Amino acid sequence: MKLIEMKNSGALTGMLFAGLLMSLMPALTLSAQNVLTIDCSKPGEQINPQMYGIFFEEINHGGEGGLYAELVRNRNFEEHVLPRGMELKDGFACAPHSRNYAYQPDKPDEWITMEYHDWKTPWNTDSLKMIGWSVAGNADYDVTDEMPLHPNTPNSMYLKMKEAGVVLENEGYWGMAVKQGGSYDLRFYLNAVDYAGSVNARIVSSDKKTVLAEHSFNIEKAEKWQEYTAVLKSVGNDVKSSLQLIFEKPGCVYVDYVSLFPQDTFKGRKNGMRKDIAQILADLKPGFMRWPGGCVVEGATLENRMRWKESIGDPMQRRSEWIRWNYHSSWGMGYHEFLQFCEDLGAKAMYVANVGMSCVGNNGDYTDDLEPFVQDIKDAIEYAIGDVTTTWGAKRAAAGHPEPFPLAYVELGNEQFGSIYAERYEYFYSRLKPLYPDITFICTLGMDNMKDALKEVDMIDPHWYSEPKFFYENTHLFDDVKRGKFNIYVGEFACIAESNITGALSEAAFMIGMERNADIVKMASYAPLLENVNQRDWQTNLIWLNSGQVMGRSSYYVQKMFSTNVPTYNLAYSFSRDTEESVGLPYQTLHCIAGYDTDSKETIIKVVNGSAEEKKITVRLNGFQVSASGKVITLSADKPDAENSLDNPRKVAPIETSYEGFGGSFDYVFKPYSLTVLRIPTLNK
Ligand code: AHR
Repeated sequence: MKLIEMKNSGALTGMLFAGLLMSLMPALTLSAQNVLTIDCSKPGEQINPQMYGIFFEEINHGGEGGLYAELVRNRNFEEHVLPRGMELKDGFACAPHSRNYAYQPDKPDEWITMEYHDWKTPWNTDSLKMIGWSVAGNADYDVTDEMPLHPNTPNSMYLKMKEAGVVLENEGYWGMAVKQGGSYDLRFYLNAVDYAGSVNARIVSSDKKTVLAEHSFNIEKAEKWQEYTAVLKSVGNDVKSSLQLIFEKPGCVYVDYVSLFPQDTFKGRKNGMRKDIAQILADLKPGFMRWPGGCVVEGATLENRMRWKESIGDPMQRRSEWIRWNYHSSWGMGYHEFLQFCEDLGAKAMYVANVGMSCVGNNGDYTDDLEPFVQDIKDAIEYAIGDVTTTWGAKRAAAGHPEPFPLAYVELGNEQFGSIYAERYEYFYSRLKPLYPDITFICTLGMDNMKDALKEVDMIDPHWYSEPKFFYENTHLFDDVKRGKFNIYVGEFACIAESNITGALSEAAFMIGMERNADIVKMASYAPLLENVNQRDWQTNLIWLNSGQVMGRSSYYVQKMFSTNVPTYNLAYSFSRDTEESVGLPYQTLHCIAGYDTDSKETIIKVVNGSAEEKKITVRLNGFQVSASGKVITLSADKPDAENSLDNPRKVAPIETSYEGFGGSFDYVFKPYSLTVLRIPTLNK
């Protein structure tokens, strides 16, 4: 179905459209005013009920120190380990000299202008070793690999204590939040090569004056690794507490894998998600969740790519790896936890796989030996949905989940372009689609010509990080995309020029364009999702958090208003505006869309008014019996730069009210800087 938007001045153009428009002509003859005329007589395109999802990537400490509930930072003492395959030279971790896949000698104007990137990043092993940790008291200490606990976590803390009372302390991710009455699972490993006596484990308050929880372990001298566990129950609240191991005697030990994990996670999962952050995500009612990224999938070099098989099993045995956002991921929140979280959210899972290429903006190295990558994807699919009699399905069952997980999408690569990528999409697709016809295999090509070169594409994944002007001017971007060859998943988008209501409303205008084209735009996810405010790796992120708080920015509420107000299908409408442009802005900031929800029997109208003035719109609902009472959800602000903060998290938040003034024709005044959802009970005549 084609939906029509026009301006009063364009009445002549409007006359070219017969049928629907004929019945709307009275609206066009009115004097200057905004008129939204909705034809309720025939259902339009169905909208994917799971259209709006979430994009998770380990970035901004959104997982480690965010969604993943572990409280100890650098629990395995591996933070200083170089990215796999890189070498330390003159204070830099240096990638191998390899050709960038996107370099095209015949196209020197393309954005990859160097054949070899020789990518490198500053590296200071000594300072990285102690990330999260400190030692107080008379002791020599170092992080060393001379006493490996496990081949995947070879480094440990060596402590040679000359006096009693040495304290090994972890401050967590800018503080550990504990709650009064909360129970915390402590687990650590000790090799007491020359130590006998007690070790006191304590959670202490931020001012170090109060012991919030403690447990004493009696250690016997033994030259072997031994696991110690206890449940620590906090007697107080503190969002910046820390964990101490206090050695009551002099002596010599190695310490590794120190973990403190709240029992009260989302849905009570062990090794699970921080409850408040998971809940703010659950409140979005996401249709799907993408994992593990993002550039992290690709790696700064191919060796450095994310490997899902290293992210399952006992978290102690998982190999951590530096990720290209400049810190290590323990992969404690691994493939199994991701799939479980999708199930817990009622969302479909989207796994993003590496296809033998690293991040083009980093090293961009690649391999032509693709079979291991194909096999790895097959194994990932089997782990998620395979029968328990298969090798990987059996591993899922052994991990406690014999039922299949809701894996529905596999993206082949991330943000990769060019002919080398296009060829391998075809190759991976031809190898995987016949085996898994129900899985949608997403192609990372954007809306350029390359997609036409491909024989078969399930779905493409264009990304847009831009400014308000771009999003407002492109509300019709999808209207003319050729139908029939592929669907579109807008995998990453965000207004990065303005982190405030202005940016958020421009995203809403763009989303109206997506929803209007729901026959081809099947899914969308804002990116990035989470930011621990103590480390911003990317300028604009949807949700901000610290150790004890979490809040959604204005863009979060835009996402929520769309994802919780998805109609069943679109309704045909025409929108005539009284002015071509919003005052003071060179682009139109008044946009709307209408749809019908067959479950609740409501017409759902979404209106963006990005201007500084109120806008009155006359709404006509043709072909419906309309109830006067309904619901209005309004997100608005008094200033264009208004934004939420951790101290004022609901400054820009939707307000839901009942409304009694609906009818077959009614006027509604939309607030300045607002997104409004009208839910109007309506029945077919
Ligand atoms: O969302 C942040 C980054 O933006 C993602 O990792 C990458 O896919 C894109 O370039």
